[in-house]
Amino acid sequence: MTNDKLRWGILSTANIGKKAVIPAIKASSNGTVAALASRDGQHAQVVATELGIPQSYGSYEELLADPGIDAVYIPLPNSLHYEWTIKAARAGKHILCEKPLALNADQCMEMAVAAEQAGVLLMEAFMYRFHPQLAQVRALLDQGAIGDVRLLRSAFTFRLTNPANIRLQSELGGGSLMDVGCYCVNLSRTLFDAEPVEVQAFASWSAGGVDEQIVGTLHFANGRYAQFDSALTLARRETYQVVGTDGVLDLPVAFLPGTNDTLIYQNRGGPNEQSYTVAGVDEYRLMVEHFAGAVLGQRPVRYPASEAARNVRVIEALYRSARNNGRPEAVEPV
Ligand SMILES: NC(=O)c1ccc[n+]([C@@H]2O[C@H](COP(=O)([O-])OP(=O)(O)OC[C@H]3O[C@@H](n4cnc5c(N)ncnc54)[C@H](OP(=O)(O)O)[C@@H]3O)[C@@H](O)[C@H]2O)c1
Repeated sequence: MTNDKLRWGILSTANIGKKAVIPAIKASSNGTVAALASRDGQHAQVVATELGIPQSYGSYEELLADPGIDAVYIPLPNSLHYEWTIKAARAGKHILCEKPLALNADQCMEMAVAAEQAGVLLMEAFMYRFHPQLAQVRALLDQGAIGDVRLLRSAFTFRLTNPANIRLQSELGGGSLMDVGCYCVNLSRTLFDAEPVEVQAFASWSAGGVDEQIVGTLHFANGRYAQFDSALTLARRETYQVVGTDGVLDLPVAFLPGTNDTLIYQNRGGPNEQSYTVAGVDEYRLMVEHFAGAVLGQRPVRYPASEAARNVRVIEALYRSARNNGRPEAVEPV
């Protein structure tokens, strides 16, 4: 590490890297983007030049072999997270891997073991958890602002029109639950600070076999429920509502507020009685700064890979239920 800055390598020319995470690392206080790799060396060079990245490689292996890289960011299709995280760990690189961490919880745990054995950190890149909006919701719930919380309703939908998109390819780990429903599952587990005991889901499947739309219920202990829907075929929504015995919190922009201010509405029975403004911030920058700070030894990583495994375990149970036409499914412990 140079001058207390983590030297990042980027595996692929993925859109999310180009649009959000590479700019976030470049803007971060404790990281630099040292290299980018693509399956196509020429393309890697073009993108690296465009984004001001000093080194490019024509294969992911070459980047992993570069001793000048401390950590990698992996924004590959979901089906490739497992393979490249394990390879990166074995190459001694710390890893920030896109969500969902893998296709199933067993893979996630193998990735966690590989990272531990190599002495590197591994974290799933759920950036929304670093937005202060979530901390503010947590604080309101802890203060009892809406009483005893019993229900969470969340949605993350958008309309995908390009049939070649990775989200529509079942062999690449596509599907709306894998892509955006995973946020709703993560949010539900995070706000209830618990794992669901049982889930139920119904889905519409594309001709290629991915869930284009899914509606699910997570049953937590003590009469607490989370309901969500996600889709690749519906108008854009990314919202949630937390319902307690005394009131309701409404979040019109839940996961991707950009750098705009966001609002939390609090309602205790009448019209929206109160609202809180959360100042806009780049949640991707906060995420990469947190991870780099953990690698640089300033703090423990806030979300270990075992947390990601538990999220994927719930996703597995939801898919089992959806494939069995809504049959309730127990969530196996990780
Ligand atoms: N946290 C967030 O806000 C957020 C947002 C969007 C997506 N994501 C996650 O980020 C990951 C990438 O999503 P994206 O939309 O950015 O993907 P994308 O633009 O389609 O990019 C995926 C990249 O993976 C590489 N790749 C390697 N093997 C491939 C294959 N067989 N087919 C297609 N691409 C292949 C390609 O890069 P090269 O050709 O350069 O090697 C491609 O550019 C996913 O895991 C997704 O869930 C997260």
